[in-house]
Amino acid sequence: MAGARIIGGKLLHYSSLPSTMEAAAREARRGVAEGTVVWADEQLTGRGRKGRDWISPRGGLFLSVVLRPTTPQLPSLLMLASVAMVRVLGRLFRLHARLKWPNDVLIRGKKVSGVLVESSFRGEVLEYAVIGMGLNANFDPGAYPEVSATATSLSRELGREVDLMEVLDALLWELDGLYRQLRAGGSVFDEWRGFLETLGQRVRVIGPGLEEEGLAQDVMADGRLLLLRKDGHRIEIPAGEVSLLPGC
Ligand code: BTN
Repeated sequence: MAGARIIGGKLLHYSSLPSTMEAAAREARRGVAEGTVVWADEQLTGRGRKGRDWISPRGGLFLSVVLRPTTPQLPSLLMLASVAMVRVLGRLFRLHARLKWPNDVLIRGKKVSGVLVESSFRGEVLEYAVIGMGLNANFDPGAYPEVSATATSLSRELGREVDLMEVLDALLWELDGLYRQLRAGGSVFDEWRGFLETLGQRVRVIGPGLEEEGLAQDVMADGRLLLLRKDGHRIEIPAGEVSLLPGC
C-alpha cells in the first residue's frame, strides 16, 4: 500500500526482556511514535492470553507493536495480527497456517504463534494499544512438557532453521500494510474469517464466566463467535478458549 510506513519505522531490539509487552507499554506512555516495535531474543516472563506463560526461549520471535488506533478499530487489531502471520508463513515457507478462534495460529492443528492485544484507556479515551506476537521459530516445543502436545515450531515443520530477521521484516511489512488499510477505512475481517478453521465445527468454549457447547456457526464483525447451542439458541461469545468436541 502506498504512503508513509507506520509499523516498523522504529525498532527497539533487546537481547533479553521480562516481556516485550511491558517494554512497549512503557515506550507508549513515554510518547514514542506510533508503530514502534519492541523485539526481544528471549523473554524471561513472556505472557500469553488469560495470564498464561508464553514460552520464550532464544530461537523464538517475540515482539510488541505500539499503536494509537481509534476505539472502533481496536477489535480489528487481533484480526490483522493473526492474518499477517498466516500470510507470512504462506509466503515465505509455503506453510498452510490456519486460525483457531480468535487468534491462535495453527499448523496441522498445532499452535505455532499467538497474539495478545492490550490497551490503555484514560476514562473513555483510548491512549494506546499494544499488539504482542510470539512465534515458535527455531526451537523445539517438544522440550517443554506444558506445550509439547499442543505446539509446533517452524524448525519442526520445515526440518531446518529459518532466518528470524527475514520473518520479522516480512511480518512488519504485512502488519504495516494491513494497519494502514484499516486506518483508511478498510477491513481485514473477511480474510480473518476465511482463515478460521473453527467455523463449522462442534466446539466447547470456555470464557470469562461461561462454558458453552455447540456449533461454531460464524463470527461477527467485532470478532465475537456465534455459537448455535443444542437447544437451538444462538449466542454471541466475546472471548474464550475453544476446543473441538469429540467426534468432530
Ligand atoms: C497467546 O496466548 O496466544 C498470546 C501469546 C502472545 C505472546 C507474545 S510474545 C511477545 C509478547 N510479549 C509477551 O509477553 N507476550 C506477547
